[in-house]
Amino acid sequence: MEIRLHSPLDMHLHLREGAMLRTVAPWSARDFAAAVVMPNLVPPVTSLERLTAYREAIGAAVAPHHFTPLMTLFLQPYSEATLSALRSQIIGVKLYPEGVTTNSAGGVSDLTAVEPTLALLEDLGIPLLVHGESHGFVLDREAEFLPIYERWAQRFPRLTIVMEHITTAGAVALLDRYPNLAATVTLHHLMITLDDMAGGLLNPHLFCKPIAKRPEDRAALLQAALAAHPRLMFGSDSAPHPIERKEAAGCAAGVFSAPVCLPLLAELFAHHGALDRLQAFVSDNACAVYGLTPLPKTVTLRRMPWQVPDRYGEVVPFYAGKTVDWAVVARDS
Ligand code: DOR
Ligand code: ZN
Repeated sequence: MEIRLHSPLDMHLHLREGAMLRTVAPWSARDFAAAVVMPNLVPPVTSLERLTAYREAIGAAVAPHHFTPLMTLFLQPYSEATLSALRSQIIGVKLYPEGVTTNSAGGVSDLTAVEPTLALLEDLGIPLLVHGESHGFVLDREAEFLPIYERWAQRFPRLTIVMEHITTAGAVALLDRYPNLAATVTLHHLMITLDDMAGGLLNPHLFCKPIAKRPEDRAALLQAALAAHPRLMFGSDSAPHPIERKEAAGCAAGVFSAPVCLPLLAELFAHHGALDRLQAFVSDNACAVYGLTPLPKTVTLRRMPWQVPDRYGEVVPFYAGKTVDWAVVARDS
């Protein structure tokens, strides 16, 4: 059995900088035509200079693969002049509530005060990408943020709002209520629940933000993905940390999934008899939501078992040491 995917897109990716960038970026660039690159560097991507330098560093790290980094800007109270100047260089602006996740210290502390900037994004036609979590009890953080999404969907009806890495049945339900809401979902949130991370021996390699939730949440996410809900897009949130930052007290949040995304998605969709929907989930939906033109890259996957390595450099991947039933066997671009 084989499937050919045209212009596979990862709509939420962390690539880091320096040696880590050089280790991880080729794995995304090998399998994906393009990816939305998150701006939560230290310091964050908040200027044209930083954005341009980062894009160039990514280009150097992924050569010779054909891969387009779709750049994002870390949301701050920008002026209209700044946003107008940056508009052609970015696919969107990413909002992190202050302190909710890795490298979000410079994020938004007052979600009402930020609204004039959101109005500018709406006027300029720049999508808003949101890490939608409150500072409440960890399992409730996404649910507590849903009213904020609703408020913004109503107040800014021409603004495309992407609910990043959704993890709850409630977020899936919200998608159908507002046409200007879209969402990404990760591979790991389609596969694991909180039990996989903390139900037995603690598995730090599955610790991420938002934290994996209940079986019924995963079921709702999976159902929407397998049905290729038109405003649900694949976004890996592949987020590498060195092993000493994961297998540690004070474990960093993030799952490194880039090398296994397409094979495990093919396995998952095939298992549920939905392989014909994978193209929409990993590319077509994102093109429609963002108005992107598909890129000429094609990736072929075949049912063929392979074992996931224990490490990629100093990073432990999702599914380390396990066997995946599907493999990427050809890439044309
Ligand atoms: O688990 C996560 N890791 N969630 C995020 O929102 C950020 C990411 C990272 O940058 O490591
Ligand atoms: Zn992320």
